[in-house]
Amino acid sequence: MKKVLITGCNGQLGRALNQLLKNTDIILINTDFDTLDICDTKQVFTLVREKMPDTIINCAAYTAVDQCETDQENARRVNALGPKNLAAAAKEIDAQLVQISTDYVFDGKADKPYLETDIPCPQSVYGLTKAEGEKAVMETLERYYIIRTAWLYGDGHNFVKTMLRLARDHDTITVVNDQFGSPTSALELGRMILHIVDSGKYGIYHGTCEGVTSWYEFARKIFSLTKTKVTVLPVTTDEYPAAVAKRPAYSVLENQKLNSQGSYRMKHWEDALVEYLSDTGMIG
Ligand SMILES: NC(=O)c1ccc[n+]([C@@H]2O[C@H](COP(=O)([O-])OP(=O)(O)OC[C@H]3O[C@@H](n4cnc5c(N)ncnc54)[C@H](OP(=O)(O)O)[C@@H]3O)[C@@H](O)[C@H]2O)c1
Repeated sequence: MKKVLITGCNGQLGRALNQLLKNTDIILINTDFDTLDICDTKQVFTLVREKMPDTIINCAAYTAVDQCETDQENARRVNALGPKNLAAAAKEIDAQLVQISTDYVFDGKADKPYLETDIPCPQSVYGLTKAEGEKAVMETLERYYIIRTAWLYGDGHNFVKTMLRLARDHDTITVVNDQFGSPTSALELGRMILHIVDSGKYGIYHGTCEGVTSWYEFARKIFSLTKTKVTVLPVTTDEYPAAVAKRPAYSVLENQKLNSQGSYRMKHWEDALVEYLSDTGMIG
């Protein structure tokens, strides 16, 4: 990987990749919505032909899960047409594409971790359009890495910051305790991507931090590490009316393809959380 085009460079993952790639000899072409709208087929081809990257990492997505339910057309444009455009342009110049996907492609009804080979069965517009994006990439290009991640947090709006903000204004907060997954730091996902991208071992990967927790336990860990005094009460998803889109109850992804290669194992979610809180000065 010598010349990398990053889309959605100002998002959580885009920023993490920039942090990891600064001071390397890799030539970075950073784009975001204002410089490259991935839904604009002509713009995508023009830029890719002009810049000739050997690798495209698509960090752009329509990630507002509830909003996707009422804005289906735009969600589909960004999450499905966008990756299709990038895959077609990559094919033309013989570049490889990294497409980021999500645990939401699964229905969350399993009782054991999902494998890369499990068949997607999305329950929300976000999950559906992301699954369509995966399919479009697979049908267009051979040299792709589709990386499904989950519960991502980094430099941007995220659960960790939301919890700490809520704790500043409330003595008691309620957090759902019947949805399980693996909180994943954008930095750790970025490391994983950079590790596999030159392996030539194309295909679908799961890329989440190791270990499993609930949102409630995740919140408790954030508060205990930051020594924040707040009462956290567990609630069920049914008792929490704010969400519009259906969330998978069990969205644990096993990093089987990555771990079977044996050369990189993602950090445990608790270790990645400590790193994030230290890097952002939230713990000393
Ligand atoms: N966040 C999570 O919990 C989570 C979980 C599982 C998977 N993922 C996946 O992980 C990837 C990275 O997520 P993230 O949290 O880093 O996302 P993010 O912070 O929401 O960033 C997405 C970026 O994409 C940009 N964008 C939106 N529409 C665009 C378009 N048409 N053309 C170009 N750029 C566009 C956004 O710009 P604006 O801000 O200007 O709209 C933003 O900079 C995504 O594929 C997401 O689906 C995320």
